[in-house]
Amino acid sequence: MREGQAERDAAPLWWQSGVIYQVYPRSFQDSDGDGIGDLQGIRRRLDHLVDLGVDALWISPIYPSPMADFGYDVADYTGIHPLFGTLKDFDRLVADAHGLGLKVILDLVPNHTSDEHPWFREARASRTSPKRDWYIWRDPAPDGGSPNNWLSEFGGSAWAFDPATGQYYYHAFLDRQPDLNWRNPQVAEAIHAVMRFWLDRGVDGFRVDVIWHLMKDVAFRDNPPDEDWREGMNPYRRLKPVHTTDLEEVHGVIAGLRQVMDAYDDRVLIGEIYLPVERLAAYYGASLDGAHLPFNFALLEAEWNARALADLIARYEGSLPEGGWPNWVLGNHDRPRVATRLGPDQARVAAMLLLTLRGTPTLYYGDEIGMTNVPIPPERVQDPWEKNVPGLGLGRDGVRTPMQWDGSPHAGFSDVEPWLPVDEAFPEVNVAQQRAEPHSMLELHRELLRLRRAHAALSIGAYVPVAAGGDLLLYGREHAGESFLIALNLGDVPVLAACGPGLAGRIALSVFCDRMGERVVDEVALRPCEGVVIALDGAPPSFSGLR
Ligand code: NOJ
Repeated sequence: MREGQAERDAAPLWWQSGVIYQVYPRSFQDSDGDGIGDLQGIRRRLDHLVDLGVDALWISPIYPSPMADFGYDVADYTGIHPLFGTLKDFDRLVADAHGLGLKVILDLVPNHTSDEHPWFREARASRTSPKRDWYIWRDPAPDGGSPNNWLSEFGGSAWAFDPATGQYYYHAFLDRQPDLNWRNPQVAEAIHAVMRFWLDRGVDGFRVDVIWHLMKDVAFRDNPPDEDWREGMNPYRRLKPVHTTDLEEVHGVIAGLRQVMDAYDDRVLIGEIYLPVERLAAYYGASLDGAHLPFNFALLEAEWNARALADLIARYEGSLPEGGWPNWVLGNHDRPRVATRLGPDQARVAAMLLLTLRGTPTLYYGDEIGMTNVPIPPERVQDPWEKNVPGLGLGRDGVRTPMQWDGSPHAGFSDVEPWLPVDEAFPEVNVAQQRAEPHSMLELHRELLRLRRAHAALSIGAYVPVAAGGDLLLYGREHAGESFLIALNLGDVPVLAACGPGLAGRIALSVFCDRMGERVVDEVALRPCEGVVIALDGAPPSFSGLR
C-alpha cells in the first residue's frame, strides 16, 4: 500500500514506529530465589531491552491469581500477585522503564475472571445475588445436561454445573475461568475502572486478552459442526464458533474500551484476535474507534514460501481500513517458537521479515537469541490445556521456559530449579554468549532494530511488493526520499535475485551480519537462507522497474 500525503506528514505515534517485546513474567528473571520470575527481575533486565533496541514491553498477567491458567485467571484486577512482587515494585518498574525510554503495556483479561474472584464468589452465592448477572448462567437442558453444545477452547463443554444454585455457567476456557457477561453494563463499568486504575499509574497501554470472545449469542444457539474437523485434531475445532466469537456486537464493547483509553494521552489498545486477516479490519472499529492494533498473527502459521507470504502481505495490506495501522507478530506464549517451526536458519530470515515489514512488530522474549521449544517431561507439565487435552501437541509449556541469560546454572534465570526446565542448549544459546559473537542471532536483532530506528522508511515507510517466486521474496520500503529493497531467500539453496537495471545500492545488513556496505548493481546473489536489506541509491525508485 502506498502512503498518502497526510500519512507522510503526520508524525508517527510511538506504537506505530516502535517495536513491542513480550515478557512472560514467570520466565524472564527470578530475583527472589523461588524459581519463578518477578517484577524486580524484569527491572534488573531492562537494560537488555534497551540494548536490544525495542520500544515497549508487554507483560503477560501479573495480578493475584490462583494460577490455574498462569495468571489468565485473575482474582483481583488491581493488585499484584505476591509471586511477582507488590504495587510498589510495579511502580518502580514503570518509573525505571520510562526513565529508559521504554513504554509499559499490561495484559487486560476482561473476558473472564478466576472462579476465586470476589465477583464470581458473590455471583455463585445465590440466584438472586446482585452479581449473578455479571456472569453467564443458564438452566440445564431438559435432560439435565449442558444448555447447548458450546465447547471450551481448553477441551470439553464450555458449561460447568454449579450444584448449589442448580445452573450452568459459561467458560470459554477453564471451568476455573468463568466468562463475564458483557451485556451487563455494570461489567463494562467495572472493567473500565480497572483500566483507569492502571492508566492513572502510568501504564502506556493494554493487550486485551481474547477480545474477539467478549460477546456471545444472545439466543444461545448451538454452534454448527466444522466439516473439516478430523479425529486427532484440536477438539475445540469440531464446531465453528460462530455464536461464541467474532460477533458484530463485540465492536460496541471494544469502542467502550477505546473511549477509556482516549481520555488519556498517547496510550495503545491492542486486541488479541485469532481470525483470518480479512476479519481483522473490523476490529479497528467502523470509524477507527476500536483497537489501535488488532494483533495480526498470520505469520505464526504462514506457509513459508515466497508466493504465499507475498499473497498474505498483500491480503493484509489490502484489507486494512483507511488509517488503520498494520502490525505483525512472530511468536507468543501460546504458539510454537519460530526457531522450532522454521528452523534456526529461516528464523533469521523471519526476523528480517518481521522487522522490515510495514507496521508494528511484536517480538517474543527469547526469540532474539533463537530459543526453541523445550521438550517437557510428563512429570513437569504445567499447562492446564496439555493436562485437559493431552498428546495432541497443544501444550504451551515448551515455549514458556526460562530466558537464557548466560552459561551459569539455570542460565542465570534463577538460583534454584525453575518452575519449567531450562533448555539444555543454554550453555551455547544465551544472551551473554551471543552478545560476544558478532554474527549471532542476538546481533542480527540488534542490527535490524538499529537500522529500523535509523531509517523511517523501514518502520513507517510504504510497503511496495516487488517480486515473489520460488524461494525469493522481494519488496521495497520507501519514505521521504529514502528507499530500501529487501531480498529474502526462503530456501536452502543459493538464489540470484536478478533485478535488472534499477537496482543499485549497498547492502545495509545480511542475516549473517556480514556483507555490510557491499555494493550491488542489477543483481544480488543470496546464499542459502540469506536475507539482505539493500539501501538503494538516490531518490526512491518506482520499484516497478525491478524484476
Ligand atoms: C489467551 C492467552 O494468550 C492464553 O495464554 C490464555 O490461556 C487464554 N487467552 C485464556 O485467557
